[in-house]
Amino acid sequence: MFGVLFEGLFPAGVALAWERSDAPAGELFPEEEALVAQAVAKRRREFAQGRACARRVLAELGIPPAPLLPGEMREPRWPQGVVGSITHDALLCAAVVGRAEAFAGLGIDLEPDEPLEANVAARIWSAEEAAAARESAVVPFDSAAKLVFSAKEAVYKCQFALTQTFIGFGAVTLLLGDGTFDATLTASVGALPLGYRFTGSWRRAAGEIVTAAWCCR
Ligand SMILES: CC(C)(COP(=O)(O)OP(=O)(O)OC[C@H]1O[C@@H](n2cnc3c(N)ncnc32)[C@H](O)[C@@H]1OP(=O)(O)O)[C@@H](O)C(=O)NCCC(=O)NCCS
Repeated sequence: MFGVLFEGLFPAGVALAWERSDAPAGELFPEEEALVAQAVAKRRREFAQGRACARRVLAELGIPPAPLLPGEMREPRWPQGVVGSITHDALLCAAVVGRAEAFAGLGIDLEPDEPLEANVAARIWSAEEAAAARESAVVPFDSAAKLVFSAKEAVYKCQFALTQTFIGFGAVTLLLGDGTFDATLTASVGALPLGYRFTGSWRRAAGEIVTAAWCCR
């Protein structure tokens, strides 16, 4: 039922694993366990499932299990030569990795497919992005803001590998296509110039939204 969300989401060369958040996740390494020792059960479960998915995709690249620890901004510190991304919500978890020689950054984001309240949406997208979503009609307008929100989070994770910089929701202009999106920087970020473009894709199914962003070398 959920597999359709992930079919063809990323280009060839990206390994992807997903799992239900409530499925048994297996053991964490002690260093990872320490990170969530004080966390609520939901956070522990999602963290463990995200790490389990990450180890599955790393194994596909021939990389043996090891602790996957966060950097200062919570970003996973992937092994040398690898870029990747993790996402989780109450229902699903997923992880992706690719070789750093092929990809400069990857981002994935899962969200429940529920409309954003108008006051929240107004902080996520500009009037121009909202107008473009209304005109394009690739998704019902009530659902479009949540989709743009998720796509911007995927772009955030993707760009972080290149910039190590926090960016807000106004930092990109995001235009939805039919199962795809374009995201363009509205100002320079680190070494990335104004106008830098990220490629992305999205799927909606079974009450979930998943979005993907990537930068090829
Ligand atoms: C960091 C953020 C994107 C996470 O998204 P979320 O929907 O809350 O949660 P998700 O489950 O999808 O993703 C969480 C995972 O993202 C990853 N992550 C967190 N910070 C990250 C960063 N700086 N760079 C890359 N990945 C990061 C982690 O793997 C984390 O899971 P973990 O803590 O279990 O390892 C979000 O909380 C945030 O801060 N957003 C504001 C910035 C933003 O999106 N700007 C839009 C720019 S256009």
